[in-house]
Amino acid sequence: MNEIKNASKVYSSSSVVADVTWFYACLAEEVPDNGGVCVKYQDRQIALFHFTRRNEWYATQNECPHRQQMALSRGMIGTQGEEPKVACPFHKKTFSLKTGECLTGDECAIKTYPVKVEEGKVFIGIINNETTVK
Ligand code: FES
Repeated sequence: MNEIKNASKVYSSSSVVADVTWFYACLAEEVPDNGGVCVKYQDRQIALFHFTRRNEWYATQNECPHRQQMALSRGMIGTQGEEPKVACPFHKKTFSLKTGECLTGDECAIKTYPVKVEEGKVFIGIINNETTVK
């Protein structure tokens, strides 16, 4: 796994500027349309989604917090209103792909990561000081 060490700036949804390390995840063509793949970064499993219908990319933790299954990359993606979401294949709990919030009324949430695509290559951002950014 190639890691890009040039930390760049990114704005999170809470408008806090944070240092981000972008790592190369895979080629864009390796991710199925309207589906996901699991990529590894150090000891993390990250679910990467190409929401082709909306022309958007998302990344979240791969582990479903309900029963700690490494499964979200195999979940169905869709929308709830305008909110893009993924449904865990095990018990169908759904999570916002933007915020990680659980949309089925549970207290559990998942971690989300920024994604960028450059020249057909997908990069996922790891926030270096995660305690300051939601
Ligand atoms: S393990 Fe994902 S919903 Fe139960």
